[in-house]
Amino acid sequence: MNAAVKYTVQPGGTLAGAVRVPGDKSISHRAVMLGALAQGDTTVSGFLNGEDCLCTMKAFQAMGVRIEQPDDTSLKVHGVGLHGLKAPPAELDLGNSGTSMRLMAGLMSGQKFATTLVGDESLSRRPMKRIIDPLSQMGANIESVDGHAPLRIAPSAGLKGIRYASKVASAQVKSGVLLAGLYASGRTEVTEPEASRDHTERMLRAFGVELEAGPGRAALRGGQQLKGTVIEVPADISSATFFMVGAAIAPGSDVTLTDVGMNPTRTGIIEILRRMGADLSVSRERQLGAEPVADVRVRGRPLRGIAIDRELVAAAIDEFPAVFVAAACAQGVTEVTGAEELRVKESDRIQTMCEGLWALGIAAQSRPDGASIGGGRLRGGRVDSKGDHRVAMSFAMAGLRAEQPITILDCANVNTSFPGFAALAAGAGLGIRVS
Ligand code: S3P
Repeated sequence: MNAAVKYTVQPGGTLAGAVRVPGDKSISHRAVMLGALAQGDTTVSGFLNGEDCLCTMKAFQAMGVRIEQPDDTSLKVHGVGLHGLKAPPAELDLGNSGTSMRLMAGLMSGQKFATTLVGDESLSRRPMKRIIDPLSQMGANIESVDGHAPLRIAPSAGLKGIRYASKVASAQVKSGVLLAGLYASGRTEVTEPEASRDHTERMLRAFGVELEAGPGRAALRGGQQLKGTVIEVPADISSATFFMVGAAIAPGSDVTLTDVGMNPTRTGIIEILRRMGADLSVSRERQLGAEPVADVRVRGRPLRGIAIDRELVAAAIDEFPAVFVAAACAQGVTEVTGAEELRVKESDRIQTMCEGLWALGIAAQSRPDGASIGGGRLRGGRVDSKGDHRVAMSFAMAGLRAEQPITILDCANVNTSFPGFAALAAGAGLGIRVS
């Protein structure tokens, strides 16, 4: 990784045109994982060719799964069946990817060979106890460094199904437990305090697995075989968010994001922008395989500050860096509460965003579970993204409303989720330069 990659964004401008952002990260990870475990082949189109998903892909290749990539966004995964993975020759390096580590912790717990999961500095700081605890209850053998990676996972005497009431609304925890549940005896059930994204549940069904699911609840029987299928990955609503917010804060903008994933567990940003008064319309709603998609058009007009509480947090969990920027450009104060999970993402997103906003002259107050952001004038200046991809892209969009250039440091990790971001944003009108 090159920590020195920086963005320089010229102040002002507008965004315009039709933009198709890359494929959904969550769905791309799951397509590789479930494709690998299936019997027969799975073809994937719209795959996100970003570093996080490539880590997942390489991990499965290291366990003997043949994956062809005829072009950047297409895969053919030759499934090896539920019990066909082989011991990898070395530890599995999952880079910056929390999804890879927590989902694979579940999967690896069910294997007859040992694996070690490692990650970069950021991933090694993130909490893994939340996934180790339920897996241990199922009988998994996981050694960590005080609840953090590296995770050394040894074969168990046999997993057993559990009913697990998760204290956090986390799709990564829910999915890790369900994937372990495929290898467990009996039934595995997970409940959570708010509904987290349900891509795993939808995709398991597409692979032929019988599963009971409702908001905040999912359950399956162990031992079910997956059958290879066809997966079409929608554009990632979390990546589309940077353009939606960019257009919303810059009067004169008119952007249409196409083929955006509209899974109801992910559309919190649409609700948030609407409540802030954004001019946002959704059209061409349709189904792409197991997931709904649509086009989203956003035109710039003045926004107002709002209160965002826990009820909206899970469905917009990755969108808060961009929401903080929208809040800084709105009239009045935006209060975010119930969002303590932001502290354990790729960076502490409450702190990183508040520090960045301070550097640009915005009054923001961080609190344990959120922040209070006063809309105001964005002066421009130098912001440290702390290697957090979504922070970097959010501050890039802030340039549209800044009075002076904004320099954003440590942007290399944008490639984890959004390769080509700077070029796509420049094409839509952002004055961004990468150096
Ligand atoms: C993800 C779930 C979310 C999200 C992450 C991707 C997933 O994390 O923040 O970017 O693919 O399951 P949590 O489930 O830990 O909230």
